[in-house]
Amino acid sequence: MNITRREFIGAGATAVATMTLSKPLFAVEGEQSLPATFAGRPVVIASANGIRGVAKAYDMITRENADTLDAIVAGVNIQELDPNDQSVGLGGLPNEDGVVQLDACCMHGPTKRAGAVAALEDVATASLVAKAVMDYTDHIMLVGAGAKKFALEMGFEEQNLLTEKSRQDWLKWKSCINNNDNWLDHSDPVKIKYSTGTINMNAVNATGDISSVVTTSGISWKIPGRVGDSAIIGAGQYCDNTVGAAGSTGRGEANIKVCGAFFIVELMRQGVAPEAACLKTIERVIAMTEKRLLDYRGRPRFDLSFYALAKDGRFGGATAYSGGQFAVADASGPRLVESAYMFKMTERPASPAMVCRQA
Ligand code: GLY
Repeated sequence: MNITRREFIGAGATAVATMTLSKPLFAVEGEQSLPATFAGRPVVIASANGIRGVAKAYDMITRENADTLDAIVAGVNIQELDPNDQSVGLGGLPNEDGVVQLDACCMHGPTKRAGAVAALEDVATASLVAKAVMDYTDHIMLVGAGAKKFALEMGFEEQNLLTEKSRQDWLKWKSCINNNDNWLDHSDPVKIKYSTGTINMNAVNATGDISSVVTTSGISWKIPGRVGDSAIIGAGQYCDNTVGAAGSTGRGEANIKVCGAFFIVELMRQGVAPEAACLKTIERVIAMTEKRLLDYRGRPRFDLSFYALAKDGRFGGATAYSGGQFAVADASGPRLVESAYMFKMTERPASPAMVCRQA
């Protein structure tokens, strides 16, 4: 058969177009690809500090038919409003100026919407402010003074988030950081608290609708204006209603570089189980970590944990070192579950601990 060059190019282009249409390079499966027999089961998971929150969110979803995002935001509000939790909201450890600055973000799977706030001051429930950005604006993220102004306009209560306990811890840290300044060191050795604490919560209901939220006061003693992974959609949390949700707690700087929550959801989209997806993401984090934060064997000198929940209710969590746990609530009740890990805790290189001694 004779074929002209023009016909050949045309035929080739058609073939390529057909290939492209029938098998996209990155298949994004829609809800229509779910089996007709899909039957979900309600599950809520969170970082371990969310044990009270998962119970509340699960009850709201199963007894009150609450929306998954409303339920998990109510779940994390428990920690945000607890003055004794020094890692989020009211009572969170402050920045180096003694000011509590909060980050939070959330995603609502069924409506494909997201909201975030960063470096928010004087409003305890950063998760609710992030949700308000999602519900009431055409934007996704508000930061600093703009985030606070928005929150107050929306009717959120303004309050000093620095509790006496956190102020005392901040003063101890401040008096310890430099031997040559005019602050006297404490007479007794004082171990300085350090926190990368955060709360992440993810939920799926019986019809397979999914949401995720994360909220934090960030790394203690941070430089004012520092924003961690908890404000970054795709890092601190991510949710795709056709696949599942994921989130993280721990050193945000390590997570932001790998877009950890997004990466986990994309792995699950390709069929990787939730726990394996979390472990693969820990591996990716380590591969992307600068030398100064690794020991001589390439083990991280920081903590970072991931949590993942699939649309069908499977879940998992992973961290670099053994001993990690996360919270789960499902038909078996609320409980703590062991996280998968890469290294034994006994192999963990010591983090530099700050201890105040008499000069
Ligand atoms: N994961 C919390 C933070 O790094 O701020």
